[in-house]
Amino acid sequence: MSRTIIVSNRLPTKVLRTADDELSFQASEGGLATGLGSIYRQEGNVWVGWPGLFVADAAEEDYVREQLRHDSMEPVFLTEDEISDYYEGFSNSTLWPTFHYFPQYATYEPAHWAAYVAVNEKFCQAVLALAGPDDTIWVHDYQLLLLPAMLRAARPRATIGFFLHIPFPSYELVRVLPWARELVAGMLGADLIGFHTFGFMRHFLSSVSHLLGFAAHNGRLEAGPRTVLVDTFPMGIDYERYAQAAVSEAARQHEASYRQALGDIRVVLSIDRLDYSKGIAERLRAFEQLLLRHPEWRGQVSLIMVVVPSRDQVAQYAALKEEIDELVGRINAAYRTMSWTPIHYFYRSFPPDELASLYRLAEVGLVTPMRDGMNLVAKEFVASKTDENGVLILSERAGAARELSDALIINPTDIDQLTAALHEALVMPQAEQARRMRAMRSLVQQYDVFAWTDLFMDRLAFAKQQQLSLHTD
Ligand code: G6P
Repeated sequence: MSRTIIVSNRLPTKVLRTADDELSFQASEGGLATGLGSIYRQEGNVWVGWPGLFVADAAEEDYVREQLRHDSMEPVFLTEDEISDYYEGFSNSTLWPTFHYFPQYATYEPAHWAAYVAVNEKFCQAVLALAGPDDTIWVHDYQLLLLPAMLRAARPRATIGFFLHIPFPSYELVRVLPWARELVAGMLGADLIGFHTFGFMRHFLSSVSHLLGFAAHNGRLEAGPRTVLVDTFPMGIDYERYAQAAVSEAARQHEASYRQALGDIRVVLSIDRLDYSKGIAERLRAFEQLLLRHPEWRGQVSLIMVVVPSRDQVAQYAALKEEIDELVGRINAAYRTMSWTPIHYFYRSFPPDELASLYRLAEVGLVTPMRDGMNLVAKEFVASKTDENGVLILSERAGAARELSDALIINPTDIDQLTAALHEALVMPQAEQARRMRAMRSLVQQYDVFAWTDLFMDRLAFAKQQQLSLHTD
């Protein structure tokens, strides 16, 4: 029987060292973990990735490995140097800024590249220790772009899928990378390469054609002796979970206590990981401008802004954190009254039932990234709006905008437009809110994360079939 192996930089369980030096295993609530749960937990299948912990010694490593294996996971342990050069370095200081159209933030360090190659190789060895010659391997995201080709070299008959969760940028950005050819060639080790949007796929094909001279027709890329399928699979969320959480007793109770604390004000909600790609500073400037241009909203509307700490060892993230702190402080100091706070800012993560109550409370969801592969917060807001009230303001440069066309679609750089959209959302008649929300909810419900997983796995099975017929011809 052939098995399916999922590979991503992070495992769906994070291992943490507590203050009293105990280890705690925390299962991720993330969309990918949920969507792929039905696959990696099946008999014989496994998820390979980094557990997020620096192990103290071999005994601890054995213990963590043992625990994770009970839950169908295989850890790849990384050293502090590897995290610094491969994860914070090449992945998040070279690829992330380049792929999100922030080339001015990108660094090009040969030592980071060397670590990226070495860690991709380390993942490759971990997968090869588990994979038979005909197994199916599904590799995820930009931290592992070289892995498909490394696996292909060792397992020519394996079925390999690759999905990119972030944008694939224009060739004009890719060509700046000194290692552009190697990166694109690395991805081509897969039989199927998936993207969130048609635009990302088109950019990828353009890079392949410029860098390697391979052309594609109807989603089939003739890459030397092999055929690689390319396609779009817009990722969804676990709709039912969000819809149910929104009406749960816990969410109602939190909402009641929040409401009591906030008083009778209207809520605009913003939730992101700390990241310069999310347009957080621009969003704050637009909210400030709303208060300036529309004094009638002062004392009436508050922005609840949740920023989840992320990658704070990377310089640009630390600088962004300072900028946000400064902006929030300035706006609150200028406009607040004894009974009203313009911006309620939280720099931490929230447990799911508290998030559900924030989604309930908010009349406006403000999702304005400069660039985003998909953006699942937009979909979570929509899924949580069971009463069909509420308005989503969504950046045209989030992958989600291709699907959620009933949102107020804005250009996040255009602060004037963003300000106008905030005002429009706050005065939108209920009937129009419901019409838009209903349309978006049915889409998010239909194309959920389980449909996404099935679609990708079906297409991968099709790739395998084609490969088999080639072998037997
Ligand atoms: C994005 C990336 C993921 C990544 C996540 C969290 O969604 O596409 O690959 O896991 O951010 O970032 P982190 O660096 O904490 O893994």
